[in-house]
Amino acid sequence: MEEQEKYIRALIELHRGLERQGPGDTDFSDYIISQLPELPTNPRIADIGCGTGAGTLFLADKFRSKVRAVDISRDFLDELDNRAKQRGLEHLVETIECDMKSLDWKPESIDLLWSEGAAYNLTFKGALKAWRPLMAPNGIAVISEIGYFTSEVPESLKVYWQNAYPAIGTESENSIHANSSGFKILGIHRLPSKAWWENYYGPLRDNMNFFKHSEDSIMQAVIKETEEEMKLFEEHEEQYGYSFYMMKAV
Ligand SMILES: C[S@@+](CC[C@H](N)C(=O)[O-])C[C@H]1O[C@@H](n2cnc3c(N)ncnc32)[C@H](O)[C@@H]1O
Repeated sequence: MEEQEKYIRALIELHRGLERQGPGDTDFSDYIISQLPELPTNPRIADIGCGTGAGTLFLADKFRSKVRAVDISRDFLDELDNRAKQRGLEHLVETIECDMKSLDWKPESIDLLWSEGAAYNLTFKGALKAWRPLMAPNGIAVISEIGYFTSEVPESLKVYWQNAYPAIGTESENSIHANSSGFKILGIHRLPSKAWWENYYGPLRDNMNFFKHSEDSIMQAVIKETEEEMKLFEEHEEQYGYSFYMMKAV
């Protein structure tokens, strides 16, 4: 196995069994849905970069309509299939192992495109470009993206993100990308800090403790990086975080 592959395996291992693979919150998602314009009956829904499917299961249950759940990790999708069965939602969940940048679906075939904490894999701008052709006329996209909450970013934070995700921007910069990619912004909502600590970092910390004596040096490196990421968020949670962009295809 190549180093990069081992690194991804360790990341998947660390996130396995968690309800979420990134920060998020079902009540917050419910609020976002309540703010959207009315969708068609039985909307065609996609959750892209779904992980083990916190968003997918929420959407399937909420709309009682089929959700196409896309992820590159078969391990995560298998967990999602099991959870869907446990919740009696398996008839509403279609798991698809695929790279999010090459979805070969019919153009204009999605009424609600949902993607939490995953668009960064293509960059926000790249994700909008790749996914816009899939949007039905007046279709709605809800995409969360990590970004700065201030234009005066402390140097240490800038250095971290320059290395971790150089395409990171502010909400106004991301709004410009949306407007120039065939979307109209309907609203932008920031994910509360509770969604990071209680729903993501807390359970992740338990998994990190489980692996803390692992002799795998790559797992140790992933744990160390994750600890640094948590410390950074603790110090700077006022200055960056996830924003949910509610957008309409125009
Ligand atoms: C931070 S996690 C978010 C997962 C889930 N949406 C959530 O909020 O719990 C990002 C997800 O994107 C998936 N992913 C990464 N690169 C991908 C790609 N190129 N195509 C499809 N999925 C990808 C990962 O496997 C992971 O499940």
